[in-house]
Amino acid sequence: MSDTFKNAMDVLKGIGTGKLTGCISTGSGQALPIDHSLVKSQISYNEIPGLADPGIPGHGGILQIISVGYGDWALWTGRRHFYQGYSYEEIGYYIDLSRELGAENLICINAAGGLDRSLNMGDLVAIDKFKCFIPIPGTDRQVDGGQFRETSPVIKEKLLEAGSSLGINIKSGNYAGVPGPTYETAAEVNWLLKLGCQVVGMSTVPELIRAQELGMTAFALSAIANVHGKSTSLSHEEVVKSAETGVERLGKLITEFIRTFDM
Ligand code: HPA
Repeated sequence: MSDTFKNAMDVLKGIGTGKLTGCISTGSGQALPIDHSLVKSQISYNEIPGLADPGIPGHGGILQIISVGYGDWALWTGRRHFYQGYSYEEIGYYIDLSRELGAENLICINAAGGLDRSLNMGDLVAIDKFKCFIPIPGTDRQVDGGQFRETSPVIKEKLLEAGSSLGINIKSGNYAGVPGPTYETAAEVNWLLKLGCQVVGMSTVPELIRAQELGMTAFALSAIANVHGKSTSLSHEEVVKSAETGVERLGKLITEFIRTFDM
């Protein structure tokens, strides 16, 4: 364990973080409004050794410890991306910290692009499988022969239950994790669709792989910010704006999920 990591652990324990049940991370424009009474403590990434502010618009860089129901959950708002030049280890650093604090579960929430035209902007998609197109060193981390990796069906079931109790519809699909930062061409969209991906994004996959390497249960939920072939234009600002409109609903969903999570 590096000194930086040890210092970060001291800081996190210093704000009263006890044993975590799990952790959740969110991406572009996804600062989930969580009821203040449920937030046990909160800290800026800048105060956590080894975890500077992600530094791109829409990524808050705040950690909140949420205490409701069974065990505490870390909500990491803002993440690092491969296209920013971060390494696999740097991207997954918050997962390592969460795991050290006892977290056994991860949910990565992201704003993603819809490849499948049956999707609509604002749809939530539970990710069953994911494919890694982001170059991550280490042969065991590469998905040989283009195989998909699977997420946790148990977490999916609990999320769908939370969704249905709130009247929130959640679709299902497979996620292509691409390096970015440019959005896909029409040819790339067709290729990814043919491979069996319905959703595409530039994050999440390194974190899911890291969590699985650490023996955690990993899941991902995508909020569709744009649909290829349907959305008129595409820019980071628009993706953030579209993601922001869905955060209220996502906040409710995640609160209900944590409240009823019992394993
Ligand atoms: N492609 C890749 N990443 C994304 C997209 C997209 O269309 N939308 C939001 N993140």
